[in-house]
Amino acid sequence: MVRVDIVSGVPDLLESPLQESIMRRAQEKGKVEIVVHDLREYAHDKHRTIDDTPYGGGSGMILKPEPIFECVESLQKARAYDEVILLTPDGERFNQRLANDLSLKRHLMLICGHYKGVDERVRERLVSREISIGDYVLTGGELAAAVVVDAIVRLIPGVLNASESALSDSFQDDLLGHPEYTRPAEFRGMKVPAELLTGDHKEIERWRNEQRQKRTEARRTDLVSSQKK
Ligand code: ADE
Repeated sequence: MVRVDIVSGVPDLLESPLQESIMRRAQEKGKVEIVVHDLREYAHDKHRTIDDTPYGGGSGMILKPEPIFECVESLQKARAYDEVILLTPDGERFNQRLANDLSLKRHLMLICGHYKGVDERVRERLVSREISIGDYVLTGGELAAAVVVDAIVRLIPGVLNASESALSDSFQDDLLGHPEYTRPAEFRGMKVPAELLTGDHKEIERWRNEQRQKRTEARRTDLVSSQKK
């Protein structure tokens, strides 16, 4: 059982992505427990303020340190966390390798940055790792946290069944996936490749590997060069 705690100023944003389909099933099967914490519950004033203007001036609002510290510390009293992760566009780029590593942990905490940023003392004192899901800026870390949790949870043993197995995913071995087809064998004049209709597993495997290689070379020269390392 993996436990993931997510600290957020906008917890409603995380509701649907983590409560449907495979994410829901994973929780029902007891493979993962995902707990979302509303940062506003750790605010001190009656307006439940979690952000403030930046020292030195500038646009946008910065998440205040006190609510985040209090929320994180109360969670850390209950259990030890393998990683406390801040979602931020200036973090380490998320990829399949990092998803694989994180799926092996027991307790993860994800902190969603919001607005313009997070008080730097949160990064200094609380955070063990900073992750970005790509070189673009979202309005907050919530959607990024949902992406990271989704990518991790599907890798936890027993979450996917054998036919959904993650082993043949794109990126698992620095190769993209091969083309897939389902019935009918011919649709609007477009035929399923003959190799897939043979029932010859060796031949199908050979064809799929060739397609993965070709697709990776055509689309992702960066992955091809990392394979040779
Ligand atoms: N918050 C805003 N943009 C982000 C990104 N690209 N990755 C992670 N967190 C973010």
